Amino acid sequence: MLKVVVLVSGGGTNLQAIIDAVEAKTITNTEIIGVISNNKNAYALERAKQYGIFGKCISPKEYDTREAFNDAFLEEVNGLNPDLIVLAGFLVVIPEQMIKQYENKIINIHPSLIPAFCGKGYYGLKVHEKALERGVKVVGATVHFVDEGTDTGPIILQKAVSVQQGDTPEILQRRVMEEAEWKILPEAIHLIANGKIKVENRQVQIEG
Ligand code: GAR
Repeated sequence: MLKVVVLVSGGGTNLQAIIDAVEAKTITNTEIIGVISNNKNAYALERAKQYGIFGKCISPKEYDTREAFNDAFLEEVNGLNPDLIVLAGFLVVIPEQMIKQYENKIINIHPSLIPAFCGKGYYGLKVHEKALERGVKVVGATVHFVDEGTDTGPIILQKAVSVQQGDTPEILQRRVMEEAEWKILPEAIHLIANGKIKVENRQVQIEG
């Protein structure tokens, strides 16, 4: 059983997609052992509660320094002893120490086709605003391993989504979630849980 901790900041629709996929057994060999949020009002924590999953808020605001937060955060995650950490709309920079300790064991969902519309300042709705501003006709989502950079780690899965005439950032965000994010994030977890993913020289190989 792959023990998964999901880190969240907001609504938690990606968390919901993971929970649903575990229940529907489209993700196998996996147990969600905890949900950690930096935001006590995140609806994602409510979702965890509804399913009897351990949930906890740990916010940088409650600590005097970033170092103190990072230490406490890492301690909390280590306490759960996860095999995989899933960033599902988690908007806090992951401490360097944690990235080192969990090499190729942290994955992130990003709402664009990396390397487009990613990096510092590209998160949530902003990604879709920028895509519409640029006038691209195809967008999408990416699941990748987390390394020291912002959205620079090895890419696991990507899925393209069409932009449609008259799209607003909100409409586009929803379509990218429905058609891409809620599919490829559970799929990536299923592949990892079943030993189908290998990383060599920063390239991901998927076994058929
Ligand atoms: C999702 O669209 C996710 O891809 C994005 O935040 C949203 C969270 O929604 N993540 C990023 O932008 C990370 N850079 P959710 O809380 O409903 O899953």
